[in-house]
Amino acid sequence: MRKPFVAGNWKMNKTVAEATELATGLKGSLAGVTEVDIAVCPVATALGAVSAALCCSNIAVGAQNMYWEASGAFTGEIAPPMVKELATYVIIGHSERRQFFGETDETVNKKIKAALAHGIKPIICIGESLEQNQAGETVDFVGGQIKGAFAGISAADAATVTLAYEPIWAIGTGLTATPEDANAIIRKAIRDVLVELYDDATAEAIRVQYGGSVKPHNMADFIAMQEIDGALVGGASLKVDDFTAIVKAAT
Ligand code: PGA
Repeated sequence: MRKPFVAGNWKMNKTVAEATELATGLKGSLAGVTEVDIAVCPVATALGAVSAALCCSNIAVGAQNMYWEASGAFTGEIAPPMVKELATYVIIGHSERRQFFGETDETVNKKIKAALAHGIKPIICIGESLEQNQAGETVDFVGGQIKGAFAGISAADAATVTLAYEPIWAIGTGLTATPEDANAIIRKAIRDVLVELYDDATAEAIRVQYGGSVKPHNMADFIAMQEIDGALVGGASLKVDDFTAIVKAAT
């Protein structure tokens, strides 16, 4: 049985003061929820303040990105040991990073290996564009992203990661995949490929979130699906009431 996992991706929103206020609100509204693993992923500048605000609570903190080298002349980047000081999770390969910041399957793979080596839990994003979806290429494309992400990673390490299946056309658009379609794609393009790469036990151990316009009113339909173990939530994670309702719908 995989424990549900709901993570909020705050993207490039919230100053330190605003992020602290949101985190403090969630700490109160989600107190006592133990049936779901919960994380919030603020901007890097707010990681310290949010991790302090959420100290000793049931809400973990994640970074939105990091570089793979441990230190050095890489202006503007943050390194795994720096993330590790402040966060439990790191989102890797979000489609916005692939689209706007040149992230590739190869850099995603390097970052996953770096996260695992430093004891940070990766949340790895995969998902197809509208064109790929309409051309019937989703299963091949997402399956390829999975193969790229997991290259050279052992079964024992693989079993500890979280995947977020996020159709790009559903992100921030108010459109969602139907729960049934998302479930079928996760089965065919993700779990079946993981069985091929590893084995049944590893494929069944990995948690897969759905992402893309998850809201309080649709979370229950996604979590009801066999292959969907939670959600990666963007816009609706910026409001205490909405994120709280989504987490509670996942119980
Ligand atoms: P959204 O974003 O919930 O605003 O669609 C999801 C994501 O990008 O992780």
